[in-house]
Amino acid sequence: MGKILAVTNQKGGVGKTTTSVNLASSLSYLGKKVLLVDVDHQANATTYMGINRANLIHTVADIFNENTSIENIILKVESVDVDILPARYELGHIEDNLIAHDNKDFILSNALERVRDDYDFIIIDCPPSLGIVTINALTASDSVLIPVQCEFLALDGLTQLLNTIRMIQNKQKYNQRTLTIEGVLLTMLDTRSNIGYEVINEVRTYFKEKVFKTIIPRNVKVSVAPSHGLPVTEYSPRSKGSLSYQNLAKEMVEINERV
Ligand SMILES: Nc1ncnc2c1ncn2[C@@H]1O[C@H](COP(=O)(O)OP(=O)(O)OP(=O)(O)O)[C@@H](O)[C@H]1O
Ligand SMILES: [Mg+2]
Repeated sequence: MGKILAVTNQKGGVGKTTTSVNLASSLSYLGKKVLLVDVDHQANATTYMGINRANLIHTVADIFNENTSIENIILKVESVDVDILPARYELGHIEDNLIAHDNKDFILSNALERVRDDYDFIIIDCPPSLGIVTINALTASDSVLIPVQCEFLALDGLTQLLNTIRMIQNKQKYNQRTLTIEGVLLTMLDTRSNIGYEVINEVRTYFKEKVFKTIIPRNVKVSVAPSHGLPVTEYSPRSKGSLSYQNLAKEMVEINERV
């Protein structure tokens, strides 16, 4: 049974999508079956994986609108052995339809349960908010991976995220799951400035052993890869950014095999 993991932080631009895409590809190199789920109406994970949004017949919004089943939406990524549940701008309009829905927090969870056995890991790239879509993602998940950018105000807003996680844990009693913190991932470390190292210390003091040993450096290949529609692990496999994401995947597999 696959592990469902939400990559989340309501702060924007901290590396959620970059992490989701490159962790998905790196896990596939380790022989894991992976489904990447894009639940951000910006649809960056879909684009980063080289999918032309204009050609999509179905998207994740169809799950929330209950138009079709999940099996009809999942696509194969061309460049890596990863499946994807793509998103598009429509996802930005689902909230109004959901207001009257009895079970609105469990829609994604119910859909993912149908395909969970087909995968080792299901990775959900969340939007930069704690709205209904993120609540759905967290409710569906076994654990959260929290990317934290090694910059000023890195920990800003994390209390709110941790409170939300606690709220979800209470709600999950209904679907026999308990959301845990998979780990906090330090991203975009600029090795030339002190602030990054200060943030590392601060985050390690707060989250202790929950911080991944792997730290993702700021690396230009990581920022260029999406414009080629490729994970950096394909675009520049030996770059520092690519190697760090491959290390993260190994670290995660080790953690999960230990339990
Ligand atoms: N390690 C890195 N080195 C250099 N650039 C990076 C790195 N990680 C992410 N970036 C760049 O930083 C920007 C933000 O990254 P990303 O889109 O992954 O963040 P996000 O948290 O998903 O943003 P949003 O909150 O809008 O969804 C992107 O332009 C991305 O290419
Ligand atoms: Mg994103």
